[in-house]
Amino acid sequence: MRRAGGDAITVGAAFRHAVARLRQAHLHYGHGTHDARDEAAFLILHVLDLPPQSLAPHRRTRLSAPQAQRLQQLLTQRIRSRVPAAYLLHEAWLGEHRFYVDRRVIVPRSFIAELLRERLEPWVHRPVRRILDLCTGSGCLAILAAHAFSDARVDASDDSRAALAVAERNVTLHGMQRRVRLVHSDLFAALMRRRYDLILCNPPYVTAGRMRRLPTEYRHEPRRALAGGMDGLDIVRRILSDAPRHLTAQGVLVCEIGHNRPALERSYPQTPFLWPETSAGPDHVFLLERAEFPLRPAAPVPGTRARRRPAPRSGHPRARPANR
Ligand SMILES: C[S@@+](CC[C@H](N)C(=O)[O-])C[C@H]1O[C@@H](n2cnc3c(N)ncnc32)[C@H](O)[C@@H]1O
Repeated sequence: MRRAGGDAITVGAAFRHAVARLRQAHLHYGHGTHDARDEAAFLILHVLDLPPQSLAPHRRTRLSAPQAQRLQQLLTQRIRSRVPAAYLLHEAWLGEHRFYVDRRVIVPRSFIAELLRERLEPWVHRPVRRILDLCTGSGCLAILAAHAFSDARVDASDDSRAALAVAERNVTLHGMQRRVRLVHSDLFAALMRRRYDLILCNPPYVTAGRMRRLPTEYRHEPRRALAGGMDGLDIVRRILSDAPRHLTAQGVLVCEIGHNRPALERSYPQTPFLWPETSAGPDHVFLLERAEFPLRPAAPVPGTRARRRPAPRSGHPRARPANR
């Protein structure tokens, strides 16, 4: 990638070239970048060995010949293979935090990370001493929680040993070996009687219908990390049933569910879920205090009724309780 005449190309020109190639290829985004411009900036900053910040201050910088060549290689690989850029680069970012990734885990992009940036205020009750990150994958949420709550110890569990190997690498990368403990467990099974002030979970929640229509990029991620059964709530139902036994009296569950809010509210019509605002809107992550847990989901048998729960008692400012 050189100008006619042999001059090294500027970052600005490389950016325009990369955006044009990516647009022409009609790729899918959503693994840390939103569109061709985002993706081009991500690749160029990586090639320049810079964190994912604005490209603007570097527009006049010139790429060295090896950097320009590396950028071309990455663009070609991304376009031909449809592999998300994060896997090609083995890095993903949540805010200012970098995580190692490979195809043993999904590319980190949970909206719970946004809430952790604000230390889950005003939702959680202090002090937060014990945290569980269920379905930890790369360990990203467990590590962000450890950063956000500096007095807390975090258990991070997953039933995939391959994912836990990636999480271990990230725990070391962030120097969190003394505060984040990795546990191999089918949901709560290996956690004995431990109780937590905060349980975080970004479970598999893609519905069967959406799984069938997944763009190629998403098919490079572990299927087990995405597939949530017919209505996307298979794992969420198990969590709702078992979490109360693992929450302290003031404990809170924070769970991401993608587009499944209507299905969740149909299944648990009396449960006062809270819906904090994230960049995806007010529908993707719910919170539930221990005292508000459902006794059981709405019965699927016609004519039966779910037992009534008391009215929601929360007055959180940004909350949008269900069923109102
Ligand atoms: C959507 S990924 C979330 C990964 C990570 N927390 C994140 O936000 O990037 C879901 C994770 O759940 C794990 N998982 C699926 N079923 C599980 C189960 N029954 N018990 C424990 N972990 C499970 C998968 O291995 C995968 O790593």
